[in-house]
Amino acid sequence: MTSDTAHDQRIITQFTRWAAPFAALPVHAEADGMARTLSAVDAQPGDRVLDVACGPGIVACALAAQGARVTGIDLTPAMIAEAKARQSAEGLAGLDWQVGDATALPFADETFDRVVTRYSFHHLPEPVAALREMRRVCRAGGRVVVIDATPAADTQVAYDRMETLRDPSHTSALTLEQLRGIGRETGLVEAVIDHYALEAQLATLADARDMAALEAMFDEDISGGQDRIGVGAWRAGDGIRFRFPVSIIAWRRE
Ligand SMILES: C[S@@+](CC[C@H](N)C(=O)[O-])C[C@H]1O[C@@H](n2cnc3c(N)ncnc32)[C@H](O)[C@@H]1O
Repeated sequence: MTSDTAHDQRIITQFTRWAAPFAALPVHAEADGMARTLSAVDAQPGDRVLDVACGPGIVACALAAQGARVTGIDLTPAMIAEAKARQSAEGLAGLDWQVGDATALPFADETFDRVVTRYSFHHLPEPVAALREMRRVCRAGGRVVVIDATPAADTQVAYDRMETLRDPSHTSALTLEQLRGIGRETGLVEAVIDHYALEAQLATLADARDMAALEAMFDEDISGGQDRIGVGAWRAGDGIRFRFPVSIIAWRRE
């Protein structure tokens, strides 16, 4: 068991506050990223799929709409409540939901054909522990898929500082090479690597206590033209905008 109680509490506090706004933000259901995600998961109708740290069930519901039988699990009860509301609003069958920890999944070995997690690894103190669990509950020949922001190595420290200012439950975003490394460490075999850039408006994503420090960090990048955070930030009519550099890795479980 690797859960860190103080960190788990930070997660639950942050995502209880953010459950409803997160569920409603169109950027979280953005079409290009979702199409790439569904393609990498490659679930067939009737497949059993687990969405780990499912939040408000956006990926889980998209997979169920394709005919998969999907279980969503998340640490934050308010997120599971949002997921149930989404399922009911979309009139979907074939879904069930649980409150639980990504690093101690309450499922038998090889229960699922596909195991996916999106935008969660940067919240975990030990992402490798979650990846091991994802592998354990995936059947031989199945797929384990992780989708998350992957900063470049030379921007990782600044990126993490920005994200921690924006969201105190951030731990660290792995680079693509680090993500590939924990896949190898876990004994998974790479099947697909893909990328997308997710455009975001800072004001809709931040409830930072120190918004001034966060904006100052972006402004330094924008006026200096150096892109030290690595998100290509710019000032638009509605404030600061930037692009999350997202990677998708699908591994085969041997
Ligand atoms: C940024 S949200 C992403 C939600 C969803 N996967 C999506 O892509 O829309 C991160 C989610 O991870 C969950 N989470 C963080 N740590 C977790 C853990 N150890 N176990 C399960 N869920 C966790 C949070 O409660 C939150 O719902």
